[in-house]
Amino acid sequence: MQTTPSKSSKQNSIVYFIGFTAALAGLLFGLDIGVISGALEFIQKDFSVSDQTLEWIVSALLWGAVFGTLVSGILSKQLGRKKTMLLSALIFALGSLYCSMSRSANELIAARFLLGIAVGVASFTAPLYLSEISPQRIRGSMIAMYQLMITIGIMLAYFSNMFFGTTVIINQQIGGHWRLMLGVIIFPALLMFAGMLFLPESPRWLFLRGFQKRGVDVFRKMLLPEEEITSEVAEIKKNLLQKQNGFHLLLKNSHFRRAIFLGMILQFIQQLTGINVILYYAPRIFKIAGFASTSGQMWGTIVIGITNMLATFIAIAFVDKLGRKPIMYAGFTVMGASMLTVGTLFNMNLEQSPVLGYYAITALLLFMVGFAMSAGPIIWILCSEIFPLGGRDLGITFSTSANWISNAIIGGTFLTMLAKLGSGPTFLLYGGLQVLFVLFFLLFVPETKGVSLESIERNLLSGEPLRNIGR
Ligand code: BGC
Repeated sequence: MQTTPSKSSKQNSIVYFIGFTAALAGLLFGLDIGVISGALEFIQKDFSVSDQTLEWIVSALLWGAVFGTLVSGILSKQLGRKKTMLLSALIFALGSLYCSMSRSANELIAARFLLGIAVGVASFTAPLYLSEISPQRIRGSMIAMYQLMITIGIMLAYFSNMFFGTTVIINQQIGGHWRLMLGVIIFPALLMFAGMLFLPESPRWLFLRGFQKRGVDVFRKMLLPEEEITSEVAEIKKNLLQKQNGFHLLLKNSHFRRAIFLGMILQFIQQLTGINVILYYAPRIFKIAGFASTSGQMWGTIVIGITNMLATFIAIAFVDKLGRKPIMYAGFTVMGASMLTVGTLFNMNLEQSPVLGYYAITALLLFMVGFAMSAGPIIWILCSEIFPLGGRDLGITFSTSANWISNAIIGGTFLTMLAKLGSGPTFLLYGGLQVLFVLFFLLFVPETKGVSLESIERNLLSGEPLRNIGR
């Protein structure tokens, strides 16, 4: 017999519906990151373009994301979080359509830049909205859900690439349909747009704009108990007393500048692991490892996507138990060892002993585990914790832009590095960097597990070395 759902389970469904819809932004972010790897080979054939042009097609989205991140602080403040996310869903849809209809490589570059703006705006606004609307007790898992959606997006894009790349028959052509790969993303974009129409505005933003009653109504519609509403409202009011004066802090406060330095370096490090080299160019890497057929390369890429998604659960399970730093040490050691192994194997003659290619792929998968359990989620978590409240928006704008800028540089130089240095040395270089990063963590990165944001802020501003601000 069916029982009537209790108020609390109804309340959870509303909260999770909100979380899921907003996290669709993460899914789109992942889809757009993942889709390009499977499309590149066919785009190159269709437009007869060089590897350098392909690098531009990859990195145009990332430069668009830099621009999107820079403007999203202003947009989400002026328009509100909800309208900004609706706008980004619309640009996602238009950008996907434009990509699928591009008549030349230059048009595709322009379309990918447009799409990148949506990615940048979404990557700033969605986590902000999620952290502002979710009740405190589930705030962590909401942000983790967003991270997970990125990896699910990448994985789904790989499956869809496989489908349109090797099986769908149109006009007697089997596979190779890169326009459909890029165009199909219009559907999740429209889904996000439609879902967002039903979501409430962020209560914190409503309070910021002086619409206190509407802010409280949002919590009521979410069916939160009155005492929880009272404590959420008290927390918001307390936070709002702290004015966002990031630019003032930037000029006047060297301790704030230290936090900005740390946030930006952490994001550079995340990208210099080489994660996106693998995600954007996986089929090419499989080719180097000796997988000649397109379908073999695409299956390999799918396994990479699945590994990335599954290993994210390791971080979700342990980040609040073991702490951030032990997981980072473990993850970076695995990544360093794996990249050095891949580099060493690529320096050998893979054609003569194909088994070495399998070893290289195994090492790549281990690299994925190392990244997804550590740098993937934890760098974003750290960057949300280290800035003093008064400069948080500006700090996150800086660190997120650093992420996209380094992402663009890496995405835009990999094929040139392969051509100039060779595949072995390129991977050895990435492997060697991980050793330096472990040293950086030892010297400069704080452990923030279980420490309140207030104590981190107090320690930072009183001049404690960065490594100790989590004490
Ligand atoms: C990174 C992205 C990366 C993704 C892979 C994110 O944390 O910022 O650059 O593509 O993880 O899962």
